[in-house]
This record gives sequence, C-alpha cells and structure tokens, in this order.
Amino acid sequence: MLVSATEIINKAHEGHYAVGAFNINNLEWIKSILLAAEEAKSPVLVEVSEGAGKYMCGFKNVAAMVRGIHDYLGITVPVALHLDHGTYEGAKACIEAGFTSIMFDGSHYPFEENLEKSKELIAAAHAHGMSIECEVGGIGGEEDGTISMGELADPQECKKIAELGVDFLAAGIGNIHGKYPANWKGLNFERLAEIQKATNGKPLVLHGGSGIPEDQIKKAISLGVSKINVNTELQLEFAAATRKYIEEGKDLEGKGFDPRKLLKPGCDAIKAKVIAMMNIFGSAGKAE
Ligand code: 13P
Repeated sequence: MLVSATEIINKAHEGHYAVGAFNINNLEWIKSILLAAEEAKSPVLVEVSEGAGKYMCGFKNVAAMVRGIHDYLGITVPVALHLDHGTYEGAKACIEAGFTSIMFDGSHYPFEENLEKSKELIAAAHAHGMSIECEVGGIGGEEDGTISMGELADPQECKKIAELGVDFLAAGIGNIHGKYPANWKGLNFERLAEIQKATNGKPLVLHGGSGIPEDQIKKAISLGVSKINVNTELQLEFAAATRKYIEEGKDLEGKGFDPRKLLKPGCDAIKAKVIAMMNIFGSAGKAE
C-alpha cells in the first residue's frame, strides 16, 4: 500500500536524517527506485513533475503504474507517491488520481495569493489523508519549464505557510535545479537556520539535491532538512551507463539490442545511485 509522506518525513525530522524524493520518468525509473529502497531498507518518495506526468500519459496512469509495480515487486518499505512542483490545477488532479502526497508550488504568485491557494490545498489534501508540501522563495534554475532565479525564502513568509498546517516546506536557500555552476556560492545555512526557527521546527525540503557536496547535505539535514529531491543525478547516471553500453558495441552483440538488455545498465546505475544517496541521507536501514 502506498502511504502519505507525513509519518515518513516526521520520523526523519525527529531522527535527524532525510528521505530521498526521486523523480520518475517511466517504468524503468519506478522499478529501479523501488528496488533500491527495498534493498536499502529505506522509506522513499517517488515523485513526478507535471511534465513527466504528461509523458507518462496522465496522473491516473502514473498512480496505476506505481501501485502496480509496487505490489508486483512486493515492496515492504514505506513508499509515498508525490507530485513535484504542482500547479493549483495539477495538485487537485493528483488528489483525484490517487496520489498519496502533493506539492503545491505557488512561489511564483504574489505571496498573499500563494498563502490563500496553499490554505485551500492543504485542507483538500488533508481531507483525503494525503501529505502536502508548499513552497516559499523560488528554487534556482529550470525545472520542467519553470524558471526561477533562486531567491532566498523570507523566514516570515515561511512562518505564515507553516502555520497553515503544511506537512513539509520547500524554501529557497541558494539551491538550484540541475547541474550546479562552477561559481555556485553553496547553500545558505544562516538562512536555513532562520527558517527552521521561524517555522518552529517544520520539516524542510531541499530541492536541487543533485551534485550538492556531502558535507553540505549533512549540515542541511542537521539544520532541519528532512526531504531531499533528486532528479538530474539519476538522469546523468542512466545516460552515462547507456552511452557506455552502446559505445562498447554491446547492442550489436547477439540480442544486445533487446530493450530489456539495452536499458539494464541504466537501470542498475539508477539503483546503485539511489542506494548510495540513501546512505548519505541517513535513511538506509530506517525501514527495518
Ligand atoms: P535536481 O534535478 O537538481 O536533482 O532537482 C530535483 C528537484 O528538486 C525536483 O523538484
């Protein structure tokens, strides 16, 4: 059974570790991430952006695929199906589609409007027993067409959204989606500590989890980050392993062109990377 992420994230916050929320694109991603979580005995969130949801033929299909694969594989660790950077309409659609968790990203609205819409969606999600994440302050870079300069979140705005009863909060602290540029200044821990204080210990979400140095990840967790989103890193791993397979001419040997063979190195690479990240985040072994 898929579960809401509230308990998963609250336990992580109390236990000073973080749970990975890994973006999915297709069957291979879902399967690899779920197998990794089971092997690492870690709770996990599989999350889907609206763009990937369209690619996968709609949220209902995403929910059916994740449930079906989860049950077929006999996964025993806690798994939540989460919407990543949802619009107001997308969040409502995922409540109907049988997700167990949603994110409403209202960070591009004027703050009062973000607050109003967040309030409505928090009530709707909770009425369905689902967890909900909201966002204050944009995350840098580009995620599925949404471009943000990555401003630092205002702790007082974070406080107002936290007081609405949101389950976990994404707040900009200098993090960026995609690859980090060479001149990146790093995470702003001062601001992170201020946000954690202003929100009275609300579990915080670190977006842009690909390519952040391990010491910064660990420090962020110690300051209240309990959910870490990872997308780009798994795409890079999959692409590199697939490139290697083809460049070595393996697709031309025997039936190496069979998609189940062609995609296997990429899937294995995703699984290995997810397990490695669960160990860094400290969630490995927490579902034993
Ligand atoms: P990356 O693609 O940088 O890992 O970011 C993922 C993310 O934050 C999804 O919301």
